Amino acid sequence: MPSLCPTWSLPQRQTAVVAQGPGKLAIQHDIPIPQLADDMVIVKTSAVAINPADAKMLDYSAAVGAIHGYDFAGIVVALGADALTAGRLSVGDRVAGLVHGMNTLKKDVGAFAEYVGAYADLLLKIPEHMSFEEAATLGTGTATATLGLFHELRVPASLEQLQYDQSAKDESPETHEGKEFVLVAGGSTATGTRALQLLKQAGLRPIATCSTANFDLARRFGAEMVFDYRSPTCAADIRTATGGELAYALDCVTQADTTQLCYAAIGRAGGRYVSLEPFREAIAQSRSLTIQPSWVMVLTIFGHKVALDGEYGREARPEDREFGARAFTAVQALLDRGLLDTHPAKVQSGGWEGVIRGVDIIRSQAMSGEKLVYVIS
Ligand SMILES: NC(=O)c1ccc[n+]([C@@H]2O[C@H](COP(=O)([O-])OP(=O)(O)OC[C@H]3O[C@@H](n4cnc5c(N)ncnc54)[C@H](OP(=O)(O)O)[C@@H]3O)[C@@H](O)[C@H]2O)c1
Repeated sequence: MPSLCPTWSLPQRQTAVVAQGPGKLAIQHDIPIPQLADDMVIVKTSAVAINPADAKMLDYSAAVGAIHGYDFAGIVVALGADALTAGRLSVGDRVAGLVHGMNTLKKDVGAFAEYVGAYADLLLKIPEHMSFEEAATLGTGTATATLGLFHELRVPASLEQLQYDQSAKDESPETHEGKEFVLVAGGSTATGTRALQLLKQAGLRPIATCSTANFDLARRFGAEMVFDYRSPTCAADIRTATGGELAYALDCVTQADTTQLCYAAIGRAGGRYVSLEPFREAIAQSRSLTIQPSWVMVLTIFGHKVALDGEYGREARPEDREFGARAFTAVQALLDRGLLDTHPAKVQSGGWEGVIRGVDIIRSQAMSGEKLVYVIS
């Protein structure tokens, strides 16, 4: 039996932003409330964030009739049986997270809706000091950075270590003994700042590429060294600064030039490279004996089949869901102790019309060091 807060009575229908076809969204007022599975909760939405994927997926893989959007924050209004038994969440809790929006296999779930059906184990409870607008930036960044770093790139640190914040208070050279450098290419992206902070808290030595205007941002999130990706000597500078020992790179931009830069920055002994989009095979071939490349797809974190075409499609990976639950527990521990900052939010009004405008904005113009967030009243 689902638990419903007595003060909330859920309507049958809701307003949501729904995919109409390639590149086209519309606001509909007659959309069913998501079905509440045992492991889910229903969240009344207070704020949503826009991701580059909101435009890319809509343009290339529109699931007509499905609710769009990944990132949201709001208030729990109902819990499924297992979510209730788990005891971590209650009606009235302020939470943030991500869902698989515009999913052809589950069209009633998406962040751009009055009511979001979210998996309880992939939600973060928002600390008191944090606003819904700030918290709306957390979901995709947390899922992508944890999956990318601790699952795919297999950095030499565990999620469990992360829970106890290993970041060195003492920055003397001795404390760096045995700690590995990890390059975050695109250190000012929303994924990049989350990755930098988690790496730092896991006790590793994050370094970043970004524009000079965002050097301070990357440093604030934990980058020990920052490098201007526009400099012709960027890769060589990284090699020098890391003593030729860099073995891990997370590429949050994944263009030919960023893959090339990561490959040139990784030391002679090689290592691993993880991207967030398919990478150029020709570049990977240039060091195929020493660098192991792969790319991560955050939608596997829900544990279900990802019904997308070509290399974006994935069979169900229950193990990724299990990883995701552990990752969100670890990140919750950091949040609870005030050790997690949110990527700067560019807060906009305008409700659902604003959200549709936001998807258009992200299509034509990359955000520099901030994430578009819309308040939903
Ligand atoms: N595979 C997945 O599951 C997954 C999940 C999340 C995101 N993604 C993808 O990952 C990418 C990043 O997403 P996001 O939301 O984190 O990005 P974002 O915050 O929208 O990224 C904007 C940033 O990109 C940086 N940038 C652009 N070109 C760069 C370059 N050559 N080198 C370094 N930085 C560069 C800019 O940095 P400056 O302003 O400092 O120049 C800007 O701050 C997008 O393509 C997104 O679709 C994939």
